Amino acid sequence: METQAPLPPEYTQAESAELDSRIAAVKNQLGSKLCVLGHHYQRDEVIKFADFTGDSLKLSQLAAGQTDAEFIVFCGVHFMAESADIVSSPNQKVVLPNLHAGCAMAEMADAEDVAAGLEEISELADAQVTPISYVNSTADIKAITARAGGACCTSSNVRNVFEWALAPADKNRPGAGKIFCIPDQHLGRNTAIAMGYGENECCVYDPQLPDGGLTQADVQRATFILWKGHCYVHQLFRPEHVTSVRESHPDIRVIVHPECPREVVELADASGSTAQIITAIEAADPGTEWAVGTESNLVNRLAKRHTDKFICVLNQASAACTQMCRIDRPHLLWALDGIANGQIVNQITVPKETADNARIALQRMIDIKPVTQVTKNG
Ligand code: 13P
Ligand code: SF4
Repeated sequence: METQAPLPPEYTQAESAELDSRIAAVKNQLGSKLCVLGHHYQRDEVIKFADFTGDSLKLSQLAAGQTDAEFIVFCGVHFMAESADIVSSPNQKVVLPNLHAGCAMAEMADAEDVAAGLEEISELADAQVTPISYVNSTADIKAITARAGGACCTSSNVRNVFEWALAPADKNRPGAGKIFCIPDQHLGRNTAIAMGYGENECCVYDPQLPDGGLTQADVQRATFILWKGHCYVHQLFRPEHVTSVRESHPDIRVIVHPECPREVVELADASGSTAQIITAIEAADPGTEWAVGTESNLVNRLAKRHTDKFICVLNQASAACTQMCRIDRPHLLWALDGIANGQIVNQITVPKETADNARIALQRMIDIKPVTQVTKNG
């Protein structure tokens, strides 16, 4: 991880009201040269300055469309800023206000380990193996994915991307019999099962072990080989939280992100990506009750926005993404001041060859139509 320089005291010691007014002023000064993007998991006091908010898919697409903005300030995590740099125009500069805002899940997969894993699995498999990388991965992994004929996915379009990868060969891509899903095992398993595959058709590749700890029989039996990675935020949700919220609120509907463990998704009423969860709650009738198994900044914001519904975090406690929270107002102001003073800080630049390949994997994903509904159980 790159090291974040400590901020000067004028930022760390500024009062809340001063930070707000200075951020608003510098944004105003930069005008249309600047576009601030904010992920849904971002804290309220930062996301209020975003020109656009969205999930990771929407933000990649927005970044690609902001051709007038010379500067894209990404209030998200490192892989999202890399994706924005990859898909934006060469004259645009992407800035991540705090370099320590990395995704803990993305950091569970190292590019060299992924390349070695793909080789090992391909040798053990009796069929073509197509890597599918969740956008929560480094640009290097996206590039490896593209070179091996695979694509990226988000939690909104993962099912479509899996279906694409398992479809018969077309002229651009060799026929594929198996998917190597990197880096979130839960997203891979939950999607495979939603597609009608059995849990026994999934196996877990552990990068710490020779051949991922798998035998030839394991790999040949599996359709989905899942990298041993997870999101610590979504792994906080447990089956007992579903039971307990249903005891206290018998009519509540439980909706969870597919990064949650299988046993939680199985017990929930529905599962879906961040965008799909938001859509489901917005469309719900007044008076309905929702326990949501995803990042708590988003869930608490939904509760404030929809006061006609009861909305709570599934574990009734905090499930904040502390990585996203590293983008705070002092870092945002520091990054904006750098742009305004012509001394750009924290620019995220992906080397050209990596970017060219990673763009292919992202573009394949964007070209595949996203699923818009949550997955209903039962
Ligand atoms: P989305 O693709 O739903 O934005 O999720 C990104 C993420 O980091 C979820 O933990
Ligand atoms: Fe990464 Fe989890 Fe944070 Fe999403 S919630 S950015 S997967 S650490």
